[in-house]
Amino acid sequence: MKCVLLSKRFDLRKYLTPEIERLQDRISFVDHLDGTDPADIEMAVGWFPQDDAFDHYPNLKAACSIGAGADNILNCPSLRHDIHVVRVVEPAQAQMMSGFVIWHAIYHQRRFATYLQNQRDKVWKRIGQRTTQEVPIGILGFGAIGARVAADLAQLGFPVKVWSRSAKPTAAGITGFHGADGLDAMLAETEILVNLLPLTAETQGILNGALFSKMRRGGYMIHVGRGPHLVEQDLLDALDSGQLAGASLDVFHVEPLAPEHPFWVHPKIVLTPHDACDVSLAATGQTILATAEAVQAGIMPKDVVDRSRGY
Ligand code: NDP
Ligand code: OXD
Repeated sequence: MKCVLLSKRFDLRKYLTPEIERLQDRISFVDHLDGTDPADIEMAVGWFPQDDAFDHYPNLKAACSIGAGADNILNCPSLRHDIHVVRVVEPAQAQMMSGFVIWHAIYHQRRFATYLQNQRDKVWKRIGQRTTQEVPIGILGFGAIGARVAADLAQLGFPVKVWSRSAKPTAAGITGFHGADGLDAMLAETEILVNLLPLTAETQGILNGALFSKMRRGGYMIHVGRGPHLVEQDLLDALDSGQLAGASLDVFHVEPLAPEHPFWVHPKIVLTPHDACDVSLAATGQTILATAEAVQAGIMPKDVVDRSRGY
């Protein structure tokens, strides 16, 4: 089986570490347009493929994202409808993401921004505390990662609300919402909003001024989905007006974030470089191998994106 590496952003060969190299007796990885007969290529591994990438491979049956999100492949203009797009689903990644979200939730709940400022100003001042039970958290997205984050936050005592496209059963301590009315109802009870949605035509721009205005005043946003979910100027306005007390941002419209971008120096923003959590190379390797086996057997691979929903 021949698999082509497609990325206009990275050299994907750096991902061919021992876990993936172990697959080489079953899959040979070739670079885009390296002289291999394109008709022999049945599979791709990608992260932001070149715009015309898929035009070159008439027999390609599946394309694996190296991450949990597959928007980077789904938005490629040359992607054909008959190509299965596969993403990585890994419990360990959900756990890592959960730890990341918990840190930012507690940063807001326990007012660490104020302690850090007071330390810089050498101010010895106790600022009081709130229990987790007093700080309701709303999570946009209750999928593989959102479900783990919700369970862990609920375990810490935060009242947790989750929003998904379809109605979903929830465990004790977690209240489920769905659809447009459900979103408004959840936001009305939300102080900390966590974004764990996939990027689709429906979710692009969802983090906007109208949404922020429906949250508790002085709320906080933890944005770990995708950059285009956020209307950036609306966030700056909500921070200026005090509607939001702060925001933690891990993903951006343009990555890396330009040095002159106002988010870098905003006193109410905590920023990380799309580093909330990666999938492990072992999980990526497993996904590539399982997809190759499915393609060879002529069956549907696992963790295929539903193209009609866009995730
Ligand atoms: P899943 O596909 O498992 O879950 C997606 C969730 O979003 C589902 O609950 C789904 O609803 C819900 N959803 C999708 N569209 C809508 C909509 N229009 N309205 C309401 N709810 C909607 O994704 P994962 O949990 O695996 O990952 C989520 C996202 O997290 C990824 O797509 C990626 O963008 C981001 N991510 C970011 C990382 C980072 O490092 N910053 C790392 C990993 C992921 P339903 O349950 O009804 O289908
Ligand atoms: C992912 C990511 O999708 O790292 O896995 O954002």
